[in-house]
Amino acid sequence: MHILVTGGTGYIGSHTVVELLQQGDRVTIIDNLYNSSKKVVDRIEAITKSRPDFVKLDLCDQDKLENLFKISVFDAVIHFAGYKAVGESVERPLMYYRNNLISTLNLLTCMKAHQVTKLVFSSSATVYGQPERIPMDEDCRLSTTNPYGTTKLMIETILSDVAKANPEFSFVVLRYFNPIGAHKSGLIGETPQGIPNNLTPYIAQVATGQRDFLRVWGNDYDTPDGTGVRDYIHVVDLAKGHLKALDYANTRTGIDFINLGTGKGYSVLQVLHAFEKACGKQLPYQILERRPGDIATSYASTKKAEEVLGWKAQYDIDRMCVDLWRFATQNPKGIR
Ligand code: WQD
Repeated sequence: MHILVTGGTGYIGSHTVVELLQQGDRVTIIDNLYNSSKKVVDRIEAITKSRPDFVKLDLCDQDKLENLFKISVFDAVIHFAGYKAVGESVERPLMYYRNNLISTLNLLTCMKAHQVTKLVFSSSATVYGQPERIPMDEDCRLSTTNPYGTTKLMIETILSDVAKANPEFSFVVLRYFNPIGAHKSGLIGETPQGIPNNLTPYIAQVATGQRDFLRVWGNDYDTPDGTGVRDYIHVVDLAKGHLKALDYANTRTGIDFINLGTGKGYSVLQVLHAFEKACGKQLPYQILERRPGDIATSYASTKKAEEVLGWKAQYDIDRMCVDLWRFATQNPKGIR
């Protein structure tokens, strides 16, 4: 198949493009390179020995997007493109609503005009807000606590309404838990902009000597060691889940929502110790105050993904840390 991957030079997008090429699909990446480098395309080619098409394009530019759909025939779309920093979204909500919503509306308009009916959308467990129950299943109450999460929830609502009005469409919405790690080659991985907000890119920068110590945001949560518990999933497992979601989208119409997680929760300190094993060093940390907006515990019910997609995460936390450490040592500043 010929798959259009928006945001395909990003962290999860690039890993998904590798899996698509390795299963024999043709891929066109569109990306505005706001949060990634075109070098990622070379890295993808180095891994897979085949090169995806790449078009530097901002999805908010509907004319350019329409022109691309005019000259190409896509069988399906995987939509990763979007701003995704929680903290930045609180400071700059207008930028987040404009970019994430308009880009998606433009994409859906072009898909409808050109009868491209299959879409896999990159959503987030953040739509569950303060979890109604743990493990979190897809029927849990939805509520968001920051503009980034709200854009994801709004897009899920837009997709639901568009699917209702266009019975030929098939949408699969994937709610990611905490993607971490990197491809085993060490050639692609996460390149955070500025000071990493997320846990493992920050730990990696402590391990490579770029940060003095890990700031642990609170150890007074109702968890085994008091620090936050999350469902960390290897980015390659996540990428493979997208291929299963595409297969699923091809067998049906309408919209469906599926969690992609491991179903296991690890605390901040457990992750830190797993990373110490991977890098062979003791890593300094300081316990600080809770980070506003954080929840104590989050991990997925994986039942639906197993039943509906036939997908289950394969890699454990140690492998996630080993693969991240390899990428960090080969690319201490990420891919720029
Ligand atoms: C994990 C745990 C922190 C950094 C966010 C987004 C979510 C998704 C994944 C996009 C928490 C603790 C973190 C640090 C720390 N992003 N921590 N020191 O907050 O679960 O989810 O990223 O889709 O939408 O909300 O991930 O990695 O920021 O935090 O102690 O320097 O690590 O308190 O318990 P989070 P995270």
